[in-house]
This record gives sequence, C-alpha cells and structure tokens, in this order.
Amino acid sequence: QSARLVVDDDFELAPVNPRLFGSFVEHLGRCVYGGIYEPGHPTADEDGFRQDVIDLVRELGVTTVRYPGGNFVSGYRWEDGVGPKDQRPRRLDTAWHSTETNAFGLHEMAAWLKKTGDNELMEAVNLGTRGLQEALDLLEYANITGGTKLSDERRANGAEDPFNIRMWCLGNEMDGPWQLGHKNAQDYATLATEVARGMRQIDPDLELVVCGSSSHTMPNFGEWEETVLQKAYNLVDFVSCHAYYQPYDGDIASFLASGVDMDGFIKDVAAAIDATKSRLKSKHEVAISFDEWNVWYQGAEPSRTPEGIGNWPVAPHLLEDVYSALDAVVFGDLLITLLKNADRVHAASLAQLVNVIAPIMTAPGGPAWRQTTFYPFAETARLAKGGTVFEPKLASGTVSTKRFGDVPAVDAVAVRDADGGVAVFAVNRSLTDAAAFTITLPDRAKSGRNAQSGSDAQPYAEVFARTLHEDDLDARNTEQDQNRVTLHANDTARLHADGRT
Ligand code: AHR
Repeated sequence: QSARLVVDDDFELAPVNPRLFGSFVEHLGRCVYGGIYEPGHPTADEDGFRQDVIDLVRELGVTTVRYPGGNFVSGYRWEDGVGPKDQRPRRLDTAWHSTETNAFGLHEMAAWLKKTGDNELMEAVNLGTRGLQEALDLLEYANITGGTKLSDERRANGAEDPFNIRMWCLGNEMDGPWQLGHKNAQDYATLATEVARGMRQIDPDLELVVCGSSSHTMPNFGEWEETVLQKAYNLVDFVSCHAYYQPYDGDIASFLASGVDMDGFIKDVAAAIDATKSRLKSKHEVAISFDEWNVWYQGAEPSRTPEGIGNWPVAPHLLEDVYSALDAVVFGDLLITLLKNADRVHAASLAQLVNVIAPIMTAPGGPAWRQTTFYPFAETARLAKGGTVFEPKLASGTVSTKRFGDVPAVDAVAVRDADGGVAVFAVNRSLTDAAAFTITLPDRAKSGRNAQSGSDAQPYAEVFARTLHEDDLDARNTEQDQNRVTLHANDTARLHADGRT
C-alpha cells in the first residue's frame, strides 16, 4: 500500500476547538463510584477522589466533561445529589438497573474538575421524566450568584461562587426507544425549544446542545434532525451526534473502516443544519457536538445490565470493555475523522472516561492503568490542541470492505501545532499490508513563514514518529499486564534531503 498527504500552508480548514478532546462521566457502573470517587482508596484525597485517576486524566489531556449522563440523566433528580451527604436519598436508576447513592453530585463534580486541570463542565438536564421547571431550577442553582432561594442553597451547600456552566445538553438520546421518557421528534422539538427559550431568559449566552440521533443507523435518522432543527434552530448552538462502533459477524475489515461511517454521519448532519439554516433564512450558526463516540461491544457480556426486581446493585461492573490493539487503531481513526471535520464539529466527548468503555481502568483499592485507547487520545490531544487543521489532501490505495465498499487504506490528517510545527495523525486500515506513507510538508524556505511567531521560518530540522502497532491485534492491557500495548518510536520515519518530505 502507498499513500501521500500534501500539507499546504495556504489551505487551512479550521482551528482545533479544545472541546474536541472532551470526555464523558456518567453515573453508570464504576465510572463515578470506584472510578473517580473511592473514599478509602490508598490514593484518595480529602474529597474521596482517587489521585491516581486524576493524574491519568491530566495525562490524557481531557478538556470538557459531559455529566451526569447519558441514559442516567433521563431519570435523575439533580437536587438529590446536593446538600449534606448523610441526607441524600438512595434512588433506583432504571437506565442501568442500579442503586444511585447520590454520594457524588454536582458539587463533587465541580470540585473534581478543578483538580483535573480546571476542566469545563458540560451539564445535561433531564428531559425524560422532567421538563422546563426543573431545568430552570438547576440553572438558577448552578449559575446565579446569590440572593434567590436556589442560588442561596448552593452557597449554603459550600459553593459561594456560581459554577458558571456554559454548555448544556437538552436531554439525552431522546430519539431512542430505550430512553426513559423517549419522545417522537415533534414532541421533543417542542419540549427542547421551550426549555431552550426558558433557559435563555435566565442567560441568553448559554451554549445549548439539542439532541440529534443516537446513531447514524436510527430508523428516523435525518428526519429527526430536520424536525428538531426546524423548531429549535435559532435557539441552540449545537446538535449532537452519538456513534459507537464494533465488529459485526467477525468482519474486521469493515470495523477498521468505521471512520468512513462517522465521516458520512457528520456530513449528513451538516447537510441537515445547512438545509434548515437556508429554509429559515437564518444567520445563526449551529455546530455539531459529537458528544458520545467510541468503540463499544454492546451485545457482549460486560454490557449486560443487572436484572430482577430485588437486584439493584450499587456501582456494578458494567460496560467494562477491555480494548485491544485493533480497537485502538479504529479509535485513532475516529479521532482523525473528528479532526478532519473540525470546521463542523466544535465539541466532542469520548464516551466514557473511567472503567465504563473507558481509556482508564481501576481496580477497587488497587491500581489504575491505561487501556490501549488511552494512547491515541493522549497523543492527539497533546499535539493537536490549540492547533489548526490543514485541509486534508490525501491520496491512498484502497482496501475492500463489505459494509463500505473500497475505502482508502490510509486515513490521515495534519495539524499545525501551537508551536508552528506540523503534526500528522495517520492510521493504516489494511489487515495485510504495511503502508509507505509520504508527507509533503509546506515549503518553509519558499514561503518564509512561521505561522505562529510571524518570524522567518526555519526549514524542518527533525522528525519524530510514534506508532501503536502489534503483530497480535488482540493484545490488551490488563491489571496484570498494564503496559502490554503502548506507543513505540517509529524509526522508519525520514526527513528527505529537500527538508520537506
Ligand atoms: O455511554 C453509554 C450509553 O450510551 C449512554 O448512557 C447513552 O447515552 C448511550 O446510549
């Protein structure tokens, strides 16, 4: 296989919004309890937060964190999670057939995010069992300085300053029949519009995310977006996309091309946004928040929810997929796809962060470690955050797939990083062939340009390459073998004599 990427200084696509490296913490399984919060753990701090997990979250380079769900939010009463812990009620969580103790809530989340590097909180409101009034109450509690019942309650509960949450999700996956309080597109559009209008009466500058489709393959995909946007367009800033990928019937070649589906999904939703905008003759811009994405083996044993009227465990092991080297390659391609669409996708949340389909795993009372998927995320966040995506100009040989036909064997994107260097992210989707990959870099000597500093450009002096590659596609990191799969220096990368390729 061979592929060529041309990086041209004159063709920029979009800045990399730091929110592209967001993640997601849901009250689900051991994501919160036993994940980020484990009082009594040897590394737990005074708030009960695991310091080993905080360190890994910082290393991962996560920015925004979506919270508290997910399916969980559609039955959640936010006020259960604030106030003295010994008075917080235990509740049924019907989404995951678990017991919610409410020992962790909004204040704990805000405090934890400060410790992980002042990350942004992206809060979801419950539009499953609840509606406008409860959303307004939560907004008042969280964002009003003081002098009202709910803002004063927050202060009494220990947060003198408002949380100042900017980004709000208007419910979660309301198109999905599994969602508590699931609605048809018209009903959801009416409710979301009403809630958006009410929230804007409190603060017109909020950034609101309306629910798009739960996957590209939902039966009413497209129609849902058009119906919801037709009503809500001028009141929202984002429409959401969610996508999870896994191999079907052992078809690994198609699984490796999952990025093709994600790319098509983004293009389709962008088309719905554009069509609505022109139909409404609106000047307002709506972007995509890809606020759930990952590899997830949905039908497999780890995702079986508890059953039985008498069985509502606290923080059970749920959705604890152990990722392989193969999964990490697909995952890397999903990140590349998000970057290639940085002009339309302004926020994204890797679902999820700890233990639950997560890059970080923990053992109760024991260690925390990095899954295979940790590495592509951390490396891409480190190099791309604060940069600018170049328009992708890629020519590649192809591989055949059952689901997507012939697809490029190599997928890649280049970013001018914050220091004016060029970072290239690439995956090889071929199951059989190595790829010879040539990158033509901007001619620094000719253009005399250094984008960031404005000073005379120096020709490229160095090239570094790191690769996640395993002969055994099934290799995984486990508690017993935590560093089996990692990044390795790739010393086949060469800077050619002309200093450009
Ligand atoms: O991330 C796991 C679940 O996937 C979320 O709760 C839900 O929104 C989606 O279906």
